[in-house]
Amino acid sequence: MPLWVADMDFAAPPAVRKALEKRVAHGVFGYGAPCPSLIDGVLDYLARAYDWRVQAAWLVWLPGLVTGINVTVRSVRDAADDAAGVLTSIPVYPPFLAAPKNGAQPLRTAALAQVDGRWKMDIEALEAACLPGTKLLLLCHPHNPVGRCWSRAELIQLADFAARHDLVVCSDEIHCDLILDTDKRHLPFAMLDEAAAERSITLMAPSKTFNIPGLGCSFAIIPNPGLRQRFLRVMQGIVPHVNILALAACEAAFRDCAAWHQELLGLLRQNRDRLEATVAALPGLSMTHVEATYLAWIDARALAQGLSLPGDMSPAAYFETRGLGFSDGADFGAPGWVRCNFGCAPKLLEHALVRLRHAVENPVVPA
Ligand SMILES: Cc1ncc(COP(=O)(O)O)c(C=O)c1O
Repeated sequence: MPLWVADMDFAAPPAVRKALEKRVAHGVFGYGAPCPSLIDGVLDYLARAYDWRVQAAWLVWLPGLVTGINVTVRSVRDAADDAAGVLTSIPVYPPFLAAPKNGAQPLRTAALAQVDGRWKMDIEALEAACLPGTKLLLLCHPHNPVGRCWSRAELIQLADFAARHDLVVCSDEIHCDLILDTDKRHLPFAMLDEAAAERSITLMAPSKTFNIPGLGCSFAIIPNPGLRQRFLRVMQGIVPHVNILALAACEAAFRDCAAWHQELLGLLRQNRDRLEATVAALPGLSMTHVEATYLAWIDARALAQGLSLPGDMSPAAYFETRGLGFSDGADFGAPGWVRCNFGCAPKLLEHALVRLRHAVENPVVPA
């Protein structure tokens, strides 16, 4: 059962499919560009969802967020300083770990901390990992894989830290519309204040929320003109335009899918609650509460020890022998953990949880 790659099993919202059908029926597939109605739709959405007044000039369209992360690394790099360095907290979505190396930059990591059963940014660890040449902080907000919706107080601490070291903050907010806790709201990092906005590159997309990541439509929001120019310069001649079908899907997603989105959140909450209750009742496994995303971050180190898994067998590999395809925590900088994608039909999740119970309670460890 594939519970790994971070997309959901659900069909895209009917309005998105209808927009795509209409665009396909048009029959002409020449070059395209974001049209005014799409740009207005995105700006309206950001104003409605976050009360964020973004100017059209701040938008840079991208075929993917990972592209945006990699462009950011290269654009923040100082031509005179090959060892500028990129800082991020771990565990984290693997392309955060790869992007600095792709851009020939040293990667500096600081571990997130678990305090009273909740993941926290560890500012002291970030301070210790930050070198004089460090120029960039990659922030995952909400966080994949630990499922935190960072609070205003935490973001202020981060912004203060970034100001002390004069860091650009690249805030990957691809999961921002998947806040599952009803008492929490997503606050874009750039909305903290003028100073945070000036040092920010925010990356967003309809991909996760409306389950259209394969179409490839996303955008950066860069209020600071200097940063934006450097970003655009790195893209030049390398990063392709967003494809015309993705543009049509994006417009419909942000404009016409509010009810579908609410229904989705209800279903994901139910799945999250089922998964949390099951894991809490199983020996050797533990997880913290998932505030946002459809991803659960499960500590399986005690299970691995209890089962005496062979040295070269990760918990993810063991679960795979039992028919469960989780993502391996090692790829996120945390061996012994697994990430479970619960963006699936409740019935399928039920089957997966039966398998999980069997795998833990009736272990069969390969020799
Ligand atoms: C935090 C985060 N950023 C980016 C992406 C991928 O973005 P894209 O497919 O637009 O490159 C993912 C997908 O899992 C993700 O979790």
